[in-house]
Amino acid sequence: LLYAVIPAGGSGTRLWPLSRAGNPKFLHALTGEPATLLQATVHRLDRLTAPEQTLVVTGVAHATAVGRQLPDLPEANVLVEPSPRDSCAAIGLAAAVISRREPDAIMGSFAADHLVRDRETFERTIREAVDGAREGYLMTIGITPNKPETGYGYLRCGDEVGPGPVRMVEEFAEKPSHDVALEYVASGRYLWNAGMFVWRVDVFLAELRRQQPALFDGLTEIAAAWGGPHQDAVLGEVWPQLTRISVDYAVMEGAAAAGLVATVPGTFGWNDVGDFDTLGEVLDPTDEAGNIVVGSAKTESGEPPVLFHDAGGLIVVPESGRLIAALGVENLIIVDTEDAVLVCHRDRAQDVKHLVDKLKEQG
Ligand code: GDD
Ligand code: MG
Repeated sequence: LLYAVIPAGGSGTRLWPLSRAGNPKFLHALTGEPATLLQATVHRLDRLTAPEQTLVVTGVAHATAVGRQLPDLPEANVLVEPSPRDSCAAIGLAAAVISRREPDAIMGSFAADHLVRDRETFERTIREAVDGAREGYLMTIGITPNKPETGYGYLRCGDEVGPGPVRMVEEFAEKPSHDVALEYVASGRYLWNAGMFVWRVDVFLAELRRQQPALFDGLTEIAAAWGGPHQDAVLGEVWPQLTRISVDYAVMEGAAAAGLVATVPGTFGWNDVGDFDTLGEVLDPTDEAGNIVVGSAKTESGEPPVLFHDAGGLIVVPESGRLIAALGVENLIIVDTEDAVLVCHRDRAQDVKHLVDKLKEQG
């Protein structure tokens, strides 16, 4: 059985006003199903791991909500970080804690905020990645790109490793510029990094130690005190000093250059729900005009609280439960929450983060 680690932090600013610092996207249901993204992530791993071997790493502000959403998880398996230090510290903490129980355990890290359509293919892919991890590779899942997305990591695929689907990764390039991303996609040699990793804990920690010695030392010190009487004191002292960097920049780019990274193709219908427009790629339209209603809000008669007339291609999120009526408009995003309403063209979904920046400026 695999150890499953779910780093759950970050606020998802392109999904404002649904996703907030205090109420980030992984705590929301973004499909027609009642499960939140976090719950769906854990359920998807049911047959690959067990609740005892599933660890969620999250911020102190979200720990209660995470515990409430995952009642089957032992309380001690929610690792609470005092402040956000990005994904390398979060994933590294879990790796260091697992290492003290089982130094050569296989661990998978799964982002808390992805959608996967085909669960059986997902399971098969992860099992293939586990085989690669046993061989000593830091395994990634590669997704065939369909646009020059700059928010992802890119994997340049090399030779096959053995008879299975595992291939070497010659280069791991995190978040390239638009021009570089265009070249990568056109070359046909690159896959997107799905943001899921599978590796032997000892192999990962050795790379962390080689590339990020200070981060390694800090996490080792914290893990040594984990669950003991000095946990909070050590955490309070060491955690704030940890380097704030994502695992992609901190470890994966350098590990690929050292020939330690490999990949298996993921054909399970992957989607990083980064903005409201991408929901349009994953969710089925709710009516013939191609409108999509997101979430599980219902009126007393059991219908979603929306009323459309001559309106098409809308993505509507009636979070507050209030009725949203639209007339004679197309391709808009309309998000209604208790204290804020967003109206935005679908072409501009990426730019919602600018609104959030503006809000921050205004305090
Ligand atoms: N606990 C904790 N604390 N978790 C964190 C923190 C943190 O400070 N920062 C990020 N995370 C979690 C996120 O919640 C998510 O589950 C995962 O770590 C990845 O972080 P993101 O911030 O969402 O990364 P990204 O989307 O920019 O990039 C990653 O994912 C892409 C695919 O979606 C990279 O791995 C890319 O290479 C990849 O293409
Ligand atoms: Mg992400």
